[in-house]
Amino acid sequence: MKLYEKLANDIERQIRGGVLRHGDRLQSVRQTSRQCALSVTTVLRAYLLLESRGLLISKPQSGYFVQLRPGSDAAEAAADAVEAITTPKPMALSATVDVSRLVLSTLRSIAAHDAVPLGSPYPDTGSFPLQKLNRYAYAAGQDPSLRALQTGLPPGHPQLIRQIAKRYLDKGQTVDPAEILITLGATEAINLCLQAVAKPGDVIAVESPTFYAMLHAIERMGMKAIEVPTHPEHGIDVDALAGIAASQAIAACMVMPNFQNPLGFVMPDERKQTLVELATRLDMPLIENGVYNELYYGAAPPRTLKSYDREGLVLHCGTFSKTLTSIYRIGWALPGRYRDQVEKLKFLNTLTTPPLPQMAIARFLTRDGYEAHLRRLRKAYAQQASLMRAIVLRFFPEGTRVSTPRGGYVLWIEMPPQVDAMRLYELALARGITIGPGHMFSVSDRYRHFIRLNYSTPWSPAIERAVITVGKLAADCMR
Ligand SMILES: Cc1ncc(COP(=O)(O)O)c(C=O)c1O
Repeated sequence: MKLYEKLANDIERQIRGGVLRHGDRLQSVRQTSRQCALSVTTVLRAYLLLESRGLLISKPQSGYFVQLRPGSDAAEAAADAVEAITTPKPMALSATVDVSRLVLSTLRSIAAHDAVPLGSPYPDTGSFPLQKLNRYAYAAGQDPSLRALQTGLPPGHPQLIRQIAKRYLDKGQTVDPAEILITLGATEAINLCLQAVAKPGDVIAVESPTFYAMLHAIERMGMKAIEVPTHPEHGIDVDALAGIAASQAIAACMVMPNFQNPLGFVMPDERKQTLVELATRLDMPLIENGVYNELYYGAAPPRTLKSYDREGLVLHCGTFSKTLTSIYRIGWALPGRYRDQVEKLKFLNTLTTPPLPQMAIARFLTRDGYEAHLRRLRKAYAQQASLMRAIVLRFFPEGTRVSTPRGGYVLWIEMPPQVDAMRLYELALARGITIGPGHMFSVSDRYRHFIRLNYSTPWSPAIERAVITVGKLAADCMR
């Protein structure tokens, strides 16, 4: 058992035993760290774990408070959760997935600080055409069709659906517009697709490392994750996946074959094909996260898994969050043979997707230079990736390794094992810089010396200084 789990369990026993009561304030992280001779990071992780078990609540500026009365149902449930987490399991299979607390608190601190956003999952929106979109939204707001609620009902606004189908066609892929469902960002698309193909308790295969939205969807549904070895350039190990599937039932596999977040690779086409063939043999749905597909640095867009699929087993998810605006929250799903289930779940989940942003984006795509905007974005990201790689290789501790992203806007950095990414995260935050600790990308602890950096912000002396500072702090962590 890890030190932080032990501390969390000790505190939980005190809560359940009535020593700590509902509303009691816990000692500060620093006090507990001093008293128990544990690092600040260990104590913080213990508190976060207790928060995720529903036993603590953090109040800004005030600290951590016990939130349950001992003996309540929730406290009993929390006791069960301890069992689930501490029971030894085979390395790769998670008993439960429990990353959302850590991710949420990290994202909050990123949003709350006026910090250099190297840890942000979002693209820098400075160059995004938000004003134009807002003008289209205003104009769409005058449209009489908006008076009816049904404008937003699934599958979504017909004009937007047509534009999305047209974009696939422009990239050489024919999709049936009748398959497209508009969702609240790719996040909802991923969640609904997973819910349509698997049920609580099922085992879902994911890449390792994987983007945490995939883990969140698994966590939300009470499923289990099995992490499949993933090559930093070729993607998920299809043979390993076949081996795992031979020994246990895998309900679905979630992958990001193009510009994977955080690794940045593109799966070679023959591997994509092999993966789809395996899925077909096993009748195993593949949930394809394609959110960065438009952000390629090469001459041509990469192929999707969907383009190899003949059986409707690939559920493909996309979004405008990475290329146009993340605040309109417009994404989509192409759920293959599961289309009707996903449509029904969408309806049950949120009834509609707000029509105004759908109409604004549809109008923008019809009339304004999306392609030119994308070309500028791709060029800038490719240059910024090279610059950030070079600075990392120069200023991070010896032995640091860096990904070579082929698209998207994130860099994955492996530092020497002595560097704890959570500690580095805190040290960087204290200097007004955020980073993405590797802990967020796995249900295991294996990426504790990895970080993800976002290079979407235009290069500037401030960004360069921030990256150099993180490198120096990483070196300090080794002492
Ligand atoms: C890899 C990846 N998948 C999914 C999402 C979610 O996209 P959306 O904002 O459209 O919900 C993000 C956004 O951060 C992402 O980076």
